[in-house]
Amino acid sequence: MTSGSAADRAFGIDIGGTGIKGALVDLTTGELATERRRYATPQPATPTAVAQVVAQLVAEVGWNGVVGATFPAVIKHGVARSAANVDPSWIGTDADKVFTDAMGGNSEVIVLNDADAAGIAEVRFGAAKGVSGVVILLTFGTGIGSAVLADGILVPNTELGHLELDGHDAESRAAASVRDEHDMSYKEWAHRVNHYMQHVERLFSPDLFVVGGGVSKNADKWVPRLELNTPVKPAQLLNNAGIVGAAIAAIERRGE
Ligand code: BGC
Repeated sequence: MTSGSAADRAFGIDIGGTGIKGALVDLTTGELATERRRYATPQPATPTAVAQVVAQLVAEVGWNGVVGATFPAVIKHGVARSAANVDPSWIGTDADKVFTDAMGGNSEVIVLNDADAAGIAEVRFGAAKGVSGVVILLTFGTGIGSAVLADGILVPNTELGHLELDGHDAESRAAASVRDEHDMSYKEWAHRVNHYMQHVERLFSPDLFVVGGGVSKNADKWVPRLELNTPVKPAQLLNNAGIVGAAIAAIERRGE
């Protein structure tokens, strides 16, 4: 059992369409302080069903301090405002409250967008550490998530995956899921990603792109094919970016 609520540790949870993962995070190193645990996302993934899994993950390690959780949607001041790839019942749900209530008074939970959490983690401990100026992290998975940071400060909920590209929602053209669905080679898919990222580059002139999501572990197969003026680095925290970023965000929002 792990107990306590020291300001140098917080519990991070990464909620995705298929899995919900969590661990206690050491905020001085960005490393996991407990083993990462994972449960399948309940189907349908309604707020109450997901909250039960969140509460269980935290209870299993006996944590009663700050908890941060990611969610793959716009999360404005704790309230879900979109549902591109999640159950529509989330729209208008006060996720902070639903999750905090599920903790039975043991912990306060702070929820933020999944890509925003990954961006915070990469700036603090990963590929964008020490980079000044504008950093754009893009995650390629079921959809495309984005985090925009200026000198390390996040502009939340940017949703660049839903930019219009050739008359389409960009994520429907260039998400990693599109590669899987259409059985595309990395070469074919990289061509689409390049087209999308050139568009983002024209709009924002960033100093650095960080590319994340499951495909970042095969970055060597597609990142070298991108033809951009901006440097591109693969995300470094891979599977743990959401967990670590959620824990950082939760502690910061609590002002600890
Ligand atoms: C959602 C974003 C999310 C991204 C990655 C998009 O479809 O609109 O909020 O960050 O997927 O999960």
